Amino acid sequence: MSADVRVAVFPVAGRGTRFLPATKASPKEMLPIVDKPLIQYAVEEAIAAGVTKLVFVTGASKRAIEDHFDVDPELENALIAGGKNELLESIKGIIPAGVSCIYIRQGEPLGLGHAVLCAKPAVGDVPFYVHLADDLIIGESGCLRQLADQYGKHGSSVVAVERVPHENTSSYGIVAVEESADGQRMTQIVEKPKPEDAPSNLAVVGRYLLAPEIFTKLESTGRGTGGEIQLTDAIADLLDDAAVYAFPFSGKRFDCGSKLGYLKATVECGLMHQDIGDDFRAYLRQSIDS
Ligand code: UTP
Repeated sequence: MSADVRVAVFPVAGRGTRFLPATKASPKEMLPIVDKPLIQYAVEEAIAAGVTKLVFVTGASKRAIEDHFDVDPELENALIAGGKNELLESIKGIIPAGVSCIYIRQGEPLGLGHAVLCAKPAVGDVPFYVHLADDLIIGESGCLRQLADQYGKHGSSVVAVERVPHENTSSYGIVAVEESADGQRMTQIVEKPKPEDAPSNLAVVGRYLLAPEIFTKLESTGRGTGGEIQLTDAIADLLDDAAVYAFPFSGKRFDCGSKLGYLKATVECGLMHQDIGDDFRAYLRQSIDS
C-alpha cells in the first residue's frame, strides 16, 4: 500500500549561478520548459502524488514563484473578455481547491540541508517529500508517487537514485547500498565524492521522502562540502539509527540546473507537446539535415 504523504517541500532559494545571467533577477525554477515553468512541473508531480500542502523555501528574487501560484484577477478578466477560455483554464487550475501554498524565507542560501530545516515549522511531525524542481523527471508514473509506494512497503525514508557515469560522481550525493528483502538499503551516503573516493556510481537525484527525524539530524549538521549545510550529511547521520532506502525510480531525468540538461528537456517536451510536437519534430529534422 502506498504511504499517505500530504506535504512536499520545494527548496527554491539557491542562487542558480550556472544559469547566470538568466537567473540574476528571476529564479531558476521559473525557467520555462516549452510553456510551463519548472516549478509548475514540480507542483503537478506533488499534487498527483496526493500532496495538499506545498511548502516553498524561497530566497532573494523569488517573488515570481509566489506570483505564479497566486490568483491574478486582472489577467483572468482580460482572458474572459478576450474569450480565451482554454488559456483561462490553464492558469486557473494550477493550484486546485484544497491545496495550500506556504512560503518560508531562507535568509541566506546556506545549503540544501539548511533550506529543508527552514521548512520544519510548516511540515511538523510527519513524513514529507523534498522535491528539487531543477531535476525534471518524465515518465508514466510520477517519481514522488513511486517513493510513496516504497515508503508504504517499509515505512522508512527513501531517496530516488540513478546510475551516473563514474567520472561524474563529484556532482552528486553518492550512495552505497545492500540488497535486503525490502529493497536497496543504504549503508553509506557521501556528498560529491571524487570518482576515486566514490563508494559507487549510484547518485541521489532531486526526490526524497523523509521521516521527520531528519530535522533533528539537520539541527546538528555543520557545514560540509562547499561550506554548505548538506542534506546528504544529515541523511548520513540518520543512517546510524534508522533505515534509509535508495530507490532506482522509473522515468527519464533531466538536470535542468545545467544548460545542456535544460536544453535536452526542452527538446524532449517540445517533441511530446500536443500542439507543436509534430511541427517541432519536422523543424529539428530539417535543421539537422541542413
Ligand atoms: P543547487 O546545488 O542546484 O544550487 O541546489 P543552486 O544554487 O540552485 O544552483 P547553482 O549550482 O548555483 O547553479 C539544489 C536545489 O537546492 C536549492 C536550490 O534552489 C535547488 O533547487 N537550494 C540550494 C536552496 O533552496 N537553498 C540553498 O541554500 C541551496
